[in-house]
Amino acid sequence: MAAITMKKIVKRYGDGFPAVNEVSLDVRDGEFMILVGPSGCGKSTLLRMIVGLEDITSGEMLIGGKVVNKVAPRQRNLSMVFQNYALYPHLTVFENIAFPLRLAKTPDDEVQRRVKETAELLELTEHLDRKPANLSGGQRQRVAMGRAIVRQADAFLFDEPLSNLDAKLRGQMRTEISRLQRRLGVTTVYVTHDQTEAMTLGDRVAVLRKGVLQQVGSPRELYEEPVNLFVAGFIGSPSMNFLPASVDGASLDTPLGRFELRDDRKAAALGGREVVLVGVRPEHFEDASLISEEKKAKGATVHARVDVTEWLGNEQYAYVPYEAPADLSAQLRDLSRELDGDQLRTQAIVALDAASTIKPGGESELWIDTAKVHLFDPATGENLTRDEEHVARLTRLTDESRDAHRKAQRGD
Ligand SMILES: Nc1ncnc2c1ncn2[C@@H]1O[C@H](COP(=O)(O)OP(=O)(O)O)[C@@H](O)[C@H]1O
Ligand SMILES: [Mg+2]
Repeated sequence: MAAITMKKIVKRYGDGFPAVNEVSLDVRDGEFMILVGPSGCGKSTLLRMIVGLEDITSGEMLIGGKVVNKVAPRQRNLSMVFQNYALYPHLTVFENIAFPLRLAKTPDDEVQRRVKETAELLELTEHLDRKPANLSGGQRQRVAMGRAIVRQADAFLFDEPLSNLDAKLRGQMRTEISRLQRRLGVTTVYVTHDQTEAMTLGDRVAVLRKGVLQQVGSPRELYEEPVNLFVAGFIGSPSMNFLPASVDGASLDTPLGRFELRDDRKAAALGGREVVLVGVRPEHFEDASLISEEKKAKGATVHARVDVTEWLGNEQYAYVPYEAPADLSAQLRDLSRELDGDQLRTQAIVALDAASTIKPGGESELWIDTAKVHLFDPATGENLTRDEEHVARLTRLTDESRDAHRKAQRGD
């Protein structure tokens, strides 16, 4: 096992464009690190530089404390699982898993033992004599994983390994990968563009945008304390709503109505600004008629016209279109496009209790939990209300729970 350290890693392809730009990232020994970002942001390029399949333009890559910039892929002792499993169709499942051991001229009795152990772990024992063509997508995926873990590599690297599976299988494999990684405790870097995978799999998540690292933190930190608009918009589904607001003292005039910030720290963040973007997650809205007067007083109530509702049984979504100033709505549309979304109109998406009887068409009273809103600088995208104390608490919490989890897995 080994830690992976990246120091100001840059990759320029032939056209001079930096696909990866000054990325510095520490993956701890045994850690499960996720690299996430929209398509084309440089995730695969970064992973390929770790493995050695791509030259590093500048910066240093260290594995287990040693600089590996010039070390051949074979000598790095890493295992990679690709999106298209790359199984050998003419070989049995057994020989597919055994392949890296055969390549390393491992004695046959050891090959037998290790492949059987690995097959056991991945529940492939009864399929060892079959050929890949006769397996389901999920089984093929497990064979590819088996080939990666049979080798006792210092680290596992995954490049979107689940993107060819259907949604249900993806969910199952996600849980399996998570279990397996914790059991083996091997340093893992996992690339995905899927924010659900990012949030559920990793100890920490690194968010990339156009080759530049935006934020590294626990899933909860990214969700609750994003550093900027990009991370705030990328993490969470449905996305955080961004409402343009003009500032008047501690009051905000938004397209959904005017409300006041009661939190002094948040009000102070407005300091002298005329315009901000107010970030409100869908679940921080509620049907005002469903909450107590006491709770109501802790937030703000606005009047809004809902145009569509979607009832899902356990919750429901309401869509609230609004008019935004032209310059800001152009900016929000650009952001939405970059986040792989394609929002046609400026609208807020609001999660309501399933019991809400708000009807589309009329005017509705919506409550906003103003203690949970974020304020962003519209020019730089910076989160003006990030709470460093809360971040420190979250970091402590996730470190503790990971250590406890690992201990339980090892059984000591
Ligand atoms: N071999 C290559 N030659 C030139 N440009 C490339 C090459 N591979 C990737 N790129 C470019 O580098 C950027 C990052 O690509 P990639 O790392 O594949 O992104 P991701 O895996 O996040 O989708 C993209 O703009 C892509 O077009
Ligand atoms: Mg890729």
